[in-house]
Amino acid sequence: MVIEQTNDALARFRAQDLDAAMADASRKQGVVTPMFDVIAPRYDAFTQLFSFGMDASWKQNLIDAVVLHAPHAHRGLDVACGTGDLGFALAARLPQLRVTGVDPSAEMLVIANQRIAARGIERVNFHLGDMATLPATDASVDVITAGYGFRNVPDLEAAVRECARVLRPGGTLGSLDFFLPQNTAWRALFLWYLRTSGNVVGWWWHRTPAIYGYIARSINAFVTARDFTALLQRNGFRVVEQRTMLLGGMGLHVAVRTDSA
Ligand SMILES: C[S@@+](CC[C@H](N)C(=O)[O-])C[C@H]1O[C@@H](n2cnc3c(N)ncnc32)[C@H](O)[C@@H]1O
Repeated sequence: MVIEQTNDALARFRAQDLDAAMADASRKQGVVTPMFDVIAPRYDAFTQLFSFGMDASWKQNLIDAVVLHAPHAHRGLDVACGTGDLGFALAARLPQLRVTGVDPSAEMLVIANQRIAARGIERVNFHLGDMATLPATDASVDVITAGYGFRNVPDLEAAVRECARVLRPGGTLGSLDFFLPQNTAWRALFLWYLRTSGNVVGWWWHRTPAIYGYIARSINAFVTARDFTALLQRNGFRVVEQRTMLLGGMGLHVAVRTDSA
């Protein structure tokens, strides 16, 4: 079934050369945001389908790990919040917590805002924005979650530094994302599967293979889970938990903001 778009996001996405934009940090956001605007109405269903239902348990594991390290958090950010899964889940576990979800995709936030009423959790709100310039003053936040977030930003290190800036010393960052597997044979197979299945769904739903083919491209341009750990460590974090799934293709990191950055 081809999904009709009611906005111009699909046209804006199609007008770009995806590979060229992915290779140029000044252009990447210009394709990433329209792409998420296009997929927003189907994002939750697609994620469950594409991960064979594993997305829910990966997110649950991340929330469990974050709650363990930040049980008394009062102020939280869910960066790259999308439709709000992690912010809602964290707020449900920590009754004292207020969470702001931040995302540049207006269409993702439409769904997220609809879910506030459905979930009945009013301690979560959403803000149109970029995780490279977070709406918080220095050292003012207790906990940050990022679900499949860091892979999408134009400047990974700048986004990690921005999280370090707003977290108070001792504050907790929890991230879940796809990573480049270390093993080259598995990496090739993993990316081939994601590219092929993504292209098929992109063609089926939008007659635009690259809409979901983006996932494999973004992983190919990303780092390994081990390199992400090193990146966190050199930007003001102590990594207290790193877990990999899918033979290194998926990773969970929990890191604590150190006193010095
Ligand atoms: C794969 S979705 C993840 C949504 C949600 N966190 C989840 O776990 O289901 C990635 C999200 O990153 C957002 N994003 C892209 N660039 C971003 C940026 N520069 N700052 C913050 N979020 C960004 C997209 O709009 C999209 O909603």
